[in-house]
Amino acid sequence: MPGLLDEIEPLKQTAVAELKAAPDLAALEQTKGAWLGANGKFTALMKRLGTLSKEEKPIAGKAVNAAKTELEAALVSRREELELKASLPKEPTDFTLPGRRRVLGKLHPLTQVTEDIVRSFRKIGFVVADGPEIEDEYHCFDALNTPADHSARDTQDTFYLGTDPKPESASRTGGNPKLLLRTHTSSVQIRVMEKQPPPIRIIVPGRVYRRDNADATHNPTFQQVEGLYVDKGVTAADLKGTVEFVFRELMGEDVKIRFRPHYFSYTEPSFEIDFTSALVKKMGKDWLEIAGCGMVHPKVFENVGYDPEVWTGWAFGFGIERIAMIRYGINDIRLFYENDVRFLRQF
Ligand code: DAH
Repeated sequence: MPGLLDEIEPLKQTAVAELKAAPDLAALEQTKGAWLGANGKFTALMKRLGTLSKEEKPIAGKAVNAAKTELEAALVSRREELELKASLPKEPTDFTLPGRRRVLGKLHPLTQVTEDIVRSFRKIGFVVADGPEIEDEYHCFDALNTPADHSARDTQDTFYLGTDPKPESASRTGGNPKLLLRTHTSSVQIRVMEKQPPPIRIIVPGRVYRRDNADATHNPTFQQVEGLYVDKGVTAADLKGTVEFVFRELMGEDVKIRFRPHYFSYTEPSFEIDFTSALVKKMGKDWLEIAGCGMVHPKVFENVGYDPEVWTGWAFGFGIERIAMIRYGINDIRLFYENDVRFLRQF
């Protein structure tokens, strides 16, 4: 039956041409069905193989199989082409267009100032210490020699959280102390001294909380840096030298500082630190109050089990926002906490 053998090649060529011409994947599947489906034209040809004689069958069978392989190869390659085409963007890419810029994040100005402060203190041997923001009354007040009736403990100033269910310091306070959000980082002085023997040279940057209404100079949460230095023979002259060094690093070489007598329950004598510089003069001020400090009170040493006859020390604390506000000329503390990118972008 020479007819069938002669039909294979032209049929195959038409099929391959049609497959190659399929404009999209749906059309390709249709073409495939029309040739290789149950009622397809090529399938019909294969069905006719059974009618051939014994001699003809192997020759025609081989030829049909070879043609089918070619057909299938044409199908696969067209499918790949069309799939690739479908995944490409409809519009051609314009390589002359400007690229998309990636916006890099930055550190918050308070983080930047905190890092500067830490860097300055590290230069003179201070290490960073940390303590809990949820504190108990003992560490925030009692151990710091703050009397029970002191106004700082008032609910007006402190966020109280209720009674500590698992008090670690009940034995020292004669009952379950109240928990609170720490009002200053001075509580960490106590935590560190309780845990380790002198000498101590730490700074403690951290968040503190007070029940203040937010205004240009107050925010219910703000950041402080605490410093504590304990060793034998420590004097107020060391304190002054240290503070002067750090504020010059932070605010410029022309910084001058002065100590004014003050009162803190955990230091005796206590001082407030003022500073001045060209920057302060430009703000129309002579001096700006910047920190509190003093020589560690003997009662505080007793509370942590240090012998006040042997050990001496000083401590200080200041607000980080205040440093940042002076440095960058910011007039409202709330800007630090609103996270307006127009503000943050400038640092
Ligand atoms: N705790 C004080 C405050 O929150 C700051 C301060 C003053 C810290 C004197 C000290 C210090 O360590 O000695 O205003």
